[in-house]
Amino acid sequence: MSNYHIKHLEEYWQVYRKSLRNPEVFWEEIAEEHFLWRKRWDTVLDWDFSKPEVKWYEGAELNITENCIDRHLTTRADKTAILFEPNDPTAIAEHITYRQLHERVCKFANVLKDQGVQKGDRVCIYLPMIPELAISVLACARIGAIHSVVFAGFSATALATRINDCDCKIVLTSDGSYRGNKTIDLKGIVDEALTSCPGIEKVLVAKRTNTDISMKSGRDQWLQPLLDAASKECEATIMKAEDPLFILYTSGSTGKPKGMVHTTGGYMIYTAYTFKNIFQYRENDVYWCTADIGWITGHSYIVYGPLANGATTVLFEGVPSYPDFGRFWEIVQKHKITQFYTAPTAIRALAKENLDFVEKYDLSSLKVLGTVGEPINEEAWHWYNENIGKRKSPIVDTWWQTETGGIMIAPIPFATPTIPTYATLPLPGIQPTLMNEQGEELKNNQQEGRLCIKFPWPSMARTIWGNHERYRETYFSTYKNMYFTGDGAFRDAVGYYRITGRVDDVIIVSGHNLGTAPIEDAINEHPAVAESAIVGYPHDIKGNALYGYITLKETGESRDQDNLRKEINQLITERIGPIAKLNKIQFTNGLPKTRSGKIMRRILRKIAEKDTSNLGDISTLLNPEVVKGIIENTF
Ligand code: WT7
Repeated sequence: MSNYHIKHLEEYWQVYRKSLRNPEVFWEEIAEEHFLWRKRWDTVLDWDFSKPEVKWYEGAELNITENCIDRHLTTRADKTAILFEPNDPTAIAEHITYRQLHERVCKFANVLKDQGVQKGDRVCIYLPMIPELAISVLACARIGAIHSVVFAGFSATALATRINDCDCKIVLTSDGSYRGNKTIDLKGIVDEALTSCPGIEKVLVAKRTNTDISMKSGRDQWLQPLLDAASKECEATIMKAEDPLFILYTSGSTGKPKGMVHTTGGYMIYTAYTFKNIFQYRENDVYWCTADIGWITGHSYIVYGPLANGATTVLFEGVPSYPDFGRFWEIVQKHKITQFYTAPTAIRALAKENLDFVEKYDLSSLKVLGTVGEPINEEAWHWYNENIGKRKSPIVDTWWQTETGGIMIAPIPFATPTIPTYATLPLPGIQPTLMNEQGEELKNNQQEGRLCIKFPWPSMARTIWGNHERYRETYFSTYKNMYFTGDGAFRDAVGYYRITGRVDDVIIVSGHNLGTAPIEDAINEHPAVAESAIVGYPHDIKGNALYGYITLKETGESRDQDNLRKEINQLITERIGPIAKLNKIQFTNGLPKTRSGKIMRRILRKIAEKDTSNLGDISTLLNPEVVKGIIENTF
C-alpha cells in the first residue's frame, strides 16, 4: 500500500493509525518512495522535547533542489514548473519548464558563488513575486546557503532587524515592485535599511520596474549581466538532512521577531507528502497558491512542496483587486487552475463585491479549494463553496504555522467530509491534543483547550536562530513534553478540530501574524505617547483589526488628535510595515492594570469587541476608574 495518496476516509484512518503505531516506520516508508538521497539515513528519528532536540533522517545526505528539479528532468523536462502571471493582466504569462528552471537556478547559484556566498552563509532575499524570487530561493538551496526571505511589504526598519539578526552578508532585491496600479521603490527601502546593516557586503538588483534608482559602487550590482555571464551547470552541494535550509521570521508576542530555522530532509519529505495529499495533485494539474513566497505558505506550498512533486505551480505578482475584483477568477479560467489555495481575508474581500466578477468566468477546471492563515468564518466558507467551488470542490481548511513548516490539520479532499469552520483531522503522523490551563490533558471529545502537539513531525522548526532558549521557552515550557502552538481549539464529538484563535498576544490580521509588543514599542517611540496597549477586535474583511488604547504624556483639548493618529500609524508603517497599522486609536486617561502593574489586555479586548456585559471583577484593579472612561469613549 502506498502511503502517498490517500483516497477515501477508511484509508485515511488506516494510514493514520499506522502512523501512530510506528511513526518511524511510517516516515521511513515515505522517505523511501521517490526521493533522491545521496546517502541513506542511519536513524529515522531522534528526539527529546525537554531540551528540545529533534532530528529526522540523521546521517542522510541530499540536496533538496535535486529533488525539486533535477529528478524531474528525465520525465518532465518540458513540463511547466513555474507559471508566472504578471501584475499587468495584458502582459504575457511566462512558462518556465523544469529544464529552464534547472538552468536558471544553476546560473543564479553560480552568481552567488562568484559573489563569495558559501555553504551556511545567510542570504537575505527581499524581492517581489517575480520568478527571480523562487529561483533565488532554490539557488541558495543549491549551494547550501541559508535563505532568509523577508516579505517585500516590510519596512526598512523591519528589514534591517531581520538582516542583522542572522548576519546576512548579501541582499537580493529589485529596483521596484508592482502592486496593482502602484509602483513601490524597493531598492530605496533596501538602501535605507542598509544604513544600519554593517554586515552587508553585496546587493544584487533584479530589474523589474525600470525605476530610476541609485547604485552604490562596490556594493550594488545589476543581477542580469551576472546571470548572463554565468555557467548553466552548477553541481548541487550535498547537505546533511539536518543542515539548515532556511530561516523565516515570525512575530512573537514579545520582543524581536523569531528567526525560525527549518532543516533540509524532514522539511522536504513533509511538504512533499502533505502537498500531494491535501491538494490531491495529479500530473496535469495546474496548482495555484495566492500567498507570497515571503510567508511560510509560499515557501512550502508554492516552491518546495509542489516542485518536489513535479507539479506546475503558479506564481502571481499581482493583487486580487487589480485591474478589478475578477482578477483571481480570470486567472483561474485562463490557466485552467485545478487547485486554488488562498486566505479567508481574500475570500471575504471578494465576497463583498458584485457576483458578476465571478460569474463572468469559467471556473469548471477547479477541483480542490484551500484556505489558510486564520479561521474561516461560516459565511465566507459558504460563499467560497457555492460561488467558486459550485458545491463540487471540497474546501480544505488547512491549519498550520510558520513553526510547523507544513500543514498539520486539514481534510483530505474527497475523503474527509468537511464542515464549515473545522480544519477537521490531523494529517498522518501528527498527534494533536488539547490541554487546560492547569496543565491537564483533555482526553475526551467535545472540549475546548489549548492546542498542543505531542510527538515530533519531520518539518517542525528546530530552533530560533541564535536563541535556542527562547525556542524552548516559547514552545516547550508551557506544557511538559509538548509543543505548544499558541492557539485554542475545540474538538467535537467525532474528533474534528476547530481552531478558535490565538490564546497569546499574537493577533492575526488579514492572515498576518502580528505580535502586540513590537507594535506597542513603535507607538511608544512617539514623543507624545506615555503608554499603549493593542488588542484585536472582529473585522468583516480582515478577520481581526487592531485597536490601540493610548495614553498621552500631556492631555489637552488643544492637541490635534487626528493628526496624532496619523503620526502614530506612520511610525508603525516605518517600524514594521503598513500591515500593522491600527484601525482605531482611542486616547485614554489610563490603561487598566493589575496591582503588580500588568496591563489587563483581556478587559481592553472585551471593550473593543463591544462585549462589556461580563468584564469580570474589576475592583481588584489598581485603577478601576479608568475602565468606565474607556467604555464611554469607545468607538
Ligand atoms: C497562525 C500561524 C501557516 C501559514 C499561514 C500563517 C493561524 C493558520 C489557520 C486555519 C485557523 C489558522 C493560527 C496559527 N492559522 N491557519 N486554517 N484556521 N487559524 O502562518 O503566520 O505562522 O500564523 O495562523 O492562529 O497559529 P503564521
